[in-house]
Amino acid sequence: MLTIVQTADGSNTIYNPQIGENYHSKHGALQESRHVFVNSGLQYFLDRTEDLKQTGGAVKISPTGEDLEGAVRTMVSILEVGFGTGLNFLLSADLCDQKQINLNYTGIEAYPLTKEMIAQTGYHQYVSAELWQQFNAQYPGALSGEVSINSNCKLQIANCPLLSFQSTQQYDIIYFDAFAAAYQPEMWDEAAIGHTIQYLKPGGVFVTYAITGNLKRAVKALGCKVEKAPGAQGKREMLRAER
Ligand SMILES: C[S@@+](CC[C@H](N)C(=O)[O-])C[C@H]1O[C@@H](n2cnc3c(N)ncnc32)[C@H](O)[C@@H]1O
Repeated sequence: MLTIVQTADGSNTIYNPQIGENYHSKHGALQESRHVFVNSGLQYFLDRTEDLKQTGGAVKISPTGEDLEGAVRTMVSILEVGFGTGLNFLLSADLCDQKQINLNYTGIEAYPLTKEMIAQTGYHQYVSAELWQQFNAQYPGALSGEVSINSNCKLQIANCPLLSFQSTQQYDIIYFDAFAAAYQPEMWDEAAIGHTIQYLKPGGVFVTYAITGNLKRAVKALGCKVEKAPGAQGKREMLRAER
């Protein structure tokens, strides 16, 4: 039975007894999600886009991303492998709300949690009350198609195993948040990584909490530039790659 357990920073995660592993780092679910995915992925991508704008390089602004005053808004798309509790989604959507950025988020999840389980995570503490309420209300619908969480943010969760996921879309950022290779090696092999990276736009950013020689080689072989970035609490390094 899945159970909610507390991690070292006081935030909750879920323990999966079949896998024998938590959904997040025991050193802190919140700190891991913020560090690996939001700061090293989303914020890194936004900072890089801003730098390109300053230097006259390619700018990732959607032509349809205009707000009510007609100002052009930045639009960012994220694909997450292993949607789980939605913590990475919630923190990313909250940041995009604060920055007035449009977010198009797709999760892939083979074993979706019930909405009752998600409601018990306590993650309402880390995002706006409106976002939490909308996410909880729309989560069941997101499992069968795209839903609007608010006027900035669209969410869909593909209820299928990674290798069955098919899309015509490519994404600016990929959050790769599978269970560790020691527990689910098939999520980290060349087939799984190759299947994932095909959905990354040229110039897009791939992040994951782990780094191994095999992973680096697999990502490099797919034509990405690989970087060892500082890891979250309890891990020296993590992998960030750009296509
Ligand atoms: C480390 S947890 C993800 C944590 C999640 N990102 C969160 O913040 O709660 C790994 C997730 O991958 C899912 N998963 C396991 N096998 C999968 C597969 N073959 N395809 C897609 N998702 C899978 C699990 O059900 C679990 O939700």
